[in-house]
Amino acid sequence: MTSAPRHILVTSALPYANGPIHIGHLVEYIQTDIWVRFQRMRGHRCHYVCADDAHGTPIMLRAEQEGITPEALVARIGVEHRADFAGFGISFDNYHSTHSSENRAIATLIYERLRDAGHIVRRTIRQAYDPVKQMFLPDRFIRGKCPRCGAPEQYGDSCEVCGATYAPTDLIDPRSALTGVTPEQRESEHVFFRLGDFEPMLRTWLASSNLQSGVINKLQEWFIAGLQDWDISRDAPYFGFEIPDAPGKYFYVWLDAPIGYLASFKHLCARTGIDYDEFCRPGTTTELYHFIGKDIMYFHTLFWPAMLHGAGFRLPNNVFVHGFLTVDGQKMSKSRGTFITARTYLDHLDPEYLRYYFAAKLAPALDDIDLNLEDFQQRVNADLVGKVVNIASRCAGFINNIFAGDLCVDSADPELEVRLRAAAAALAVAYEGRDYARVMRDIMALADFSNQFIDRHKPWVLAKDPAARDALHRVASTGIELFRLLMIYLKPVLPRMASAAETFLGCGALTWADAERRLGRHRISTFSPLKTRVDAKQVAAMVKASKATLGPTESAMSASLSDPLAPEINIDDFAKIDLRVARVVGAKQVVGADKLVELQLDIGNETRTVFAGIRAAYEPEVLVGRMVVMVANLAPRKMRFGVSEGMVLAAGPGGEEVFVIAPDQGAVPGMRVK
Ligand code: 2FM
Ligand code: ZN
Repeated sequence: MTSAPRHILVTSALPYANGPIHIGHLVEYIQTDIWVRFQRMRGHRCHYVCADDAHGTPIMLRAEQEGITPEALVARIGVEHRADFAGFGISFDNYHSTHSSENRAIATLIYERLRDAGHIVRRTIRQAYDPVKQMFLPDRFIRGKCPRCGAPEQYGDSCEVCGATYAPTDLIDPRSALTGVTPEQRESEHVFFRLGDFEPMLRTWLASSNLQSGVINKLQEWFIAGLQDWDISRDAPYFGFEIPDAPGKYFYVWLDAPIGYLASFKHLCARTGIDYDEFCRPGTTTELYHFIGKDIMYFHTLFWPAMLHGAGFRLPNNVFVHGFLTVDGQKMSKSRGTFITARTYLDHLDPEYLRYYFAAKLAPALDDIDLNLEDFQQRVNADLVGKVVNIASRCAGFINNIFAGDLCVDSADPELEVRLRAAAAALAVAYEGRDYARVMRDIMALADFSNQFIDRHKPWVLAKDPAARDALHRVASTGIELFRLLMIYLKPVLPRMASAAETFLGCGALTWADAERRLGRHRISTFSPLKTRVDAKQVAAMVKASKATLGPTESAMSASLSDPLAPEINIDDFAKIDLRVARVVGAKQVVGADKLVELQLDIGNETRTVFAGIRAAYEPEVLVGRMVVMVANLAPRKMRFGVSEGMVLAAGPGGEEVFVIAPDQGAVPGMRVK
């Protein structure tokens, strides 16, 4: 310990309780967990809490679709989330739910204090209402034609084709995604939080709290745009907490979600005797940090500090924001098998490989990080197995077999040991600043020096010379000491490997301060390999399983379950459509149209060119050789890039969620589909 112990509360964003944890989520939990484990190794009291984000319309509707209560859905998903996080070694002190008595009590308290201080107002607004489902519709549950580009089936807030943003009332031919009826406009009184009251306080906070520059820039933009009142209520039916003085109205999910951080902490305090009030009071010396993704900055850097301050609570010391994850340079995709759930990953690979890889990529900026599957294998094999584990495995056998496990007190290279020990200070600064990429780079450089030391002294040669016994003892013992130092530095990232190393070294739980002293005269245990190489086959199997096990996403599922039917046609209309089996004999990207793939389709007696809007879901080359179904008698359409001579059948709401429909085995090109 180099400074007085700090008392710290750390959170990661609360995952929604209606879907699995995937590797995109894990960037944040791994980033936070490394920081928390580092703080604990330094001797600080650091509590790490999280919870499932249980409220809102999507969770209510999902439970309804499954024929269960939202409470039952939340309980089931909670079990899955906990198991996934445990699998990745995420060391929460408490994992709770926002649908808890603690959260209801704190949300009520904060709301009432804000109201009594004059920061809550009520206004009547007009909103889309589904008269069949008898509920107001969130923007995402309204579909229609984009008012700008005319693309069909767009959401009520933005167009996925042209990127326009608009109000749901701007949609052409809007329909409820739940029942297909045209929504009505109905009035309802809503409750608003006057965010603008807090602008001076937020500006002061911004100036004092050491936020990342990317966050500061965003906040400045928002100040310039003006802080609007925030609608914190939703009408029944809604899964959430009823607003105490507004029967039939519920707190919007985003009101009680961040309060869930405090609720989870309070639940922990009740179990352990930590002083909750001390953490909440303004002026406290305790510290509070939130780790989040860049998509939810508005909630955490404006609404949340304003709510806390307005209700007489302390403010966060900082909000640490990270970017998104891409896989092989692209958004995670089900069809490419890169939408990898935590569970599928755990079924195939060691979680610490991913912890190490993310650490090697994570820096304190808001940039996205890429998981390149090829680079992942190479880096894990070269660094963890080839460099770090290798040091121990090159030395342990001599100590175990020739010296009965006893280490030598003298060092074969005191200077190198000092160099590794002296690195602790800079590594600690980089860990504290979340520059894990730098930490990993520096540790691997130290591992290189350590391996070079072994190369120079060649213990395997010394072992053949009975006169070199002492030298062999010194060299192999020094190798073990260097390995121990590296494991101290890697422990926040690789807790399981560190625990296996502690057993091997017989040294108890390593702390950061253990880097200051040598192991010296000491007996170690038998060595067994601490990590094995990643095999390309395991990665391929994981990608394959991700393609196979995942059905459509939530949005695709709800779209397919609730998509309204098109107007009825009769059998004669249907008979006009000539559907044929076709083989894809060519597929390429269309320059200047990143949504299209140009297909060459063999339909038996001729080859057709078809432009299909499936680029987001498929790499062109994977389509070649596939059998598809096409509308063969569609009139040719002249497009900007050429003439399209048909249409390929596919299912799904669009974007990546498009699945080309394949005929069964045995179908041949040209065969009619009936
Ligand atoms: O964006 C999300 O996934 C939210 N469930 C995060 C909530 S974080 C906190 F505010 F609760
Ligand atoms: Zn559009």
